Amino acid sequence: MSGAVTEPTRVSTVGTAPGIFPFVSHAIALFRRPLDFLNSLPAQGDLVELRLGPQRAWMICDPQLVHLMLMDPHTFDKGGTQYDRLGALMGNGIVTCPQSEHRRQRTLLQPGFHPSRIPAYTELMAEEAEALCREWRAGEKVDVTRAMMALTTRVTSRVLFSGSLDAERAAVVRECLAAVVRGLFARTVVPVDAVFRIPTPANRRYQEALRRLHALIDTIIAERREAPPREDLLGTLLAAHDGGGAGNGAGNGDETGVGVRDGDAAAEGPRRVSDREIHDQLITLLLTGVETTAMCLASAFSLLAVNPEAERALHREVDAVLRDGQAPGQEELARLEYTRCVVTETLRVCPPGWLFTRITTRETELGGHRLPRGAMILYSPYLLHHDPASFPEPERFLPERWLPERETAVRKGAMLPFAAGNRKCIGDRFAMAEAMVGVATVAAHWRLRPVSGHDGQPRPAVTLGPRALVMLCEPRQHSRHYRMAGDNGVDDV
Ligand code: HEM
Repeated sequence: MSGAVTEPTRVSTVGTAPGIFPFVSHAIALFRRPLDFLNSLPAQGDLVELRLGPQRAWMICDPQLVHLMLMDPHTFDKGGTQYDRLGALMGNGIVTCPQSEHRRQRTLLQPGFHPSRIPAYTELMAEEAEALCREWRAGEKVDVTRAMMALTTRVTSRVLFSGSLDAERAAVVRECLAAVVRGLFARTVVPVDAVFRIPTPANRRYQEALRRLHALIDTIIAERREAPPREDLLGTLLAAHDGGGAGNGAGNGDETGVGVRDGDAAAEGPRRVSDREIHDQLITLLLTGVETTAMCLASAFSLLAVNPEAERALHREVDAVLRDGQAPGQEELARLEYTRCVVTETLRVCPPGWLFTRITTRETELGGHRLPRGAMILYSPYLLHHDPASFPEPERFLPERWLPERETAVRKGAMLPFAAGNRKCIGDRFAMAEAMVGVATVAAHWRLRPVSGHDGQPRPAVTLGPRALVMLCEPRQHSRHYRMAGDNGVDDV
């Protein structure tokens, strides 16, 4: 266990979630009104017992207990309904693999996420964000969720497999991902397989989306085998497949403790990567990389639109830092302090990764409470981020919380948008850079206004965020650089 984690200083309390029909009601509450349900749990105790269908589960509500759990991945391994469902989709890639296989996989992929790669990624993120801003017109109503999905699909696919995703394929990925994330959530909280074998239209759509995604990944891999080698993530995987090895992970910029576990498969050193694994890792990275950051961006614009002071402060900053509204590079990113606060606060209020499961691999104890082997454990960044004990006025969007001079007031351990420990998000720096570039570039050119009937409320699925956010585009001063229908040169300062 990491020395940074301290034992809870108070006695942990254990409770049971309220419900009229204990054997079904928690699954129903979690499915129907998940965010309210999560917010009701800390009042029941630090560790709260739930029933999900026939299964007992424990939600950890105390941030220190969550850290203890995340720092002990051998006892609290990936598993539970969520990862069983994800496994059916992603195979045995880095997100779903058990702890015993994790270190080798992380070592294989980590170089692609090394901090030294971020400046190059930032450049292509900037190109794509500017291209997106050029597509919009003054007075146009844009589907922001869709636009952000398009942006992150283009960025992620360029990083993963350079130019292999043309517009037509990108549209297939977007459509399929949307169908899959909707279906996955239902499959996570209702762990009754028979329900999903019934050939309903929704089940058929889910299966078809899966089939198309897998087929597309196979096509991309087959094409690349015939093409000259390229320096992207697929290139790294193909080189490892051909016996090039994946490096030993030393100095790979990973601070999660991945390199210190014993007994993991990585101790055997780099191994050849099978065809199956290349497929699984690609689909894993596509699924984890696209939807999460798109939801973060859509949430940010939705929150800014109803928090005019924060929006004005953001505009002031981007106007001061970005030359002629040009998208930020690495140097500008370092100076966009308020933009960083906006993204961080968005991740607090509306964390795209909002609910995760684990399985105990042995009988154990957490916060003084005994947990049997095979117990399903849940933790929720959303629940932790909305606990008033950690964040006063948790429902308010206050980017200032994260200004360096105020940050000490925040109960830091409670902020877990990217998790912690050795299963922490591998793409955290990538995602922060992408979200900051997206927010700053759009804010330099456009002010996105709410449209009635599209409230931008976060809708929980496998990720959390506004699913169909439509907003009105108002140009800001830099928008004159773009072709527009009817420029009104609005300046909001
Ligand atoms: C705002 C955007 C993102 C958020 C909020 C986010 C959040 C998370 C969280 C909470 C986890 C841990 C899950 C758990 O504990 O079970 C995770 C894992 C992971 N994320 Fe992200 N993520 C984001 C973007 C990305 C991106 C852009 C990529 C890659 C392109 C990525 C790849 C991964 C991978 C591969 C893992 C598994 C790591 C491992 O088990 O070693 N994520 N992410």
